[in-house]
Amino acid sequence: SLLVPSVKELAENPMVAVPPRYIRPKQDAPVISDNTLISKFPVIDMESLLSEESMDSELAKLDFACREWGFFQLVNHGVSLALVDKVKKEIQEFFNLSMEEKKKYWQYPGEVEGFGQAFVVSEEQKLDWGDLDTLEVYSMEVNALAMNLISGMAKVLHIKDEEVREFFENGLQSMRMNYYPPCPQPEKVTGLTPHSDAVALTILLQINEAEGLQIKKDGKWFPIRPLPNAFIVNIGDVLEVITNGVYPSIEHRAVVNSEQERLSIATFHTVNYDGEVGPAPSLITEKTPALFRRVTTEEFVKALFSRELHEKSHLDYM
Ligand code: SIN
Ligand code: FE2
Repeated sequence: SLLVPSVKELAENPMVAVPPRYIRPKQDAPVISDNTLISKFPVIDMESLLSEESMDSELAKLDFACREWGFFQLVNHGVSLALVDKVKKEIQEFFNLSMEEKKKYWQYPGEVEGFGQAFVVSEEQKLDWGDLDTLEVYSMEVNALAMNLISGMAKVLHIKDEEVREFFENGLQSMRMNYYPPCPQPEKVTGLTPHSDAVALTILLQINEAEGLQIKKDGKWFPIRPLPNAFIVNIGDVLEVITNGVYPSIEHRAVVNSEQERLSIATFHTVNYDGEVGPAPSLITEKTPALFRRVTTEEFVKALFSRELHEKSHLDYM
């Protein structure tokens, strides 16, 4: 990545108009404001998913959410509130460090870890109104959760256990913290460029109650209202490939507002680096032929890092 300014630092200076490099072309798709529709966003209960008597009905709900939305909120997730609060506090503190301190964690060209903005590949590229960081905290519990969800999905889809193991044993995990300062012209910028996640599953924790995440649904932007103590979970490109297109990886973005900062932590889960990315063999039949080529994880990842973060362009259907 190329070095770019910290947006937090930028936003701390008095400003009536944002610098041109952050101004986006006018967004085409409208944002949904119908509250009845917004309240239909799926909610999955992890306790129900793990209990004998409610498992089957909750798995059916999970399957519906993954097929129709590619996104859901997860409640009763079992990650302790104390841990979540600690992570939230530490992350808030990190972003509040002086620039001098944060620069020690600066992300240098060609690296994926550190503080800064990822996916900046040219000086001309439009920048996101947000800073990123990578950290390895609270990862074990969220990893266990991700693997439970993936097992549940595999169960409903009748993907064999050994195939799940082959993809996800020693699976890779990474984390990104997003900080979006308030912006004097929120409608002119994007907090996070529309994209789909290049991993298998993403588990997002909102640090404060500010809204901002929107998903593309039927050609419109659908805003997500975070429930208290819930995670927002979404299918990434790798699961779209593994499920042979049955669970779609949905384009999403983050918007910002003029009053409130917004923070979130995304934990990304994906397959192991030595393996391959391709449709699960148990899903391939005469009636449902493979829609994707099988490639090594290395090839899959290399293809990703050579592009700008943009929409959903790199999944090549056959
Ligand atoms: C966010 O909601 O802050 C960002 C979601 C993402 O990482 O795509
Ligand atoms: Fe994302």
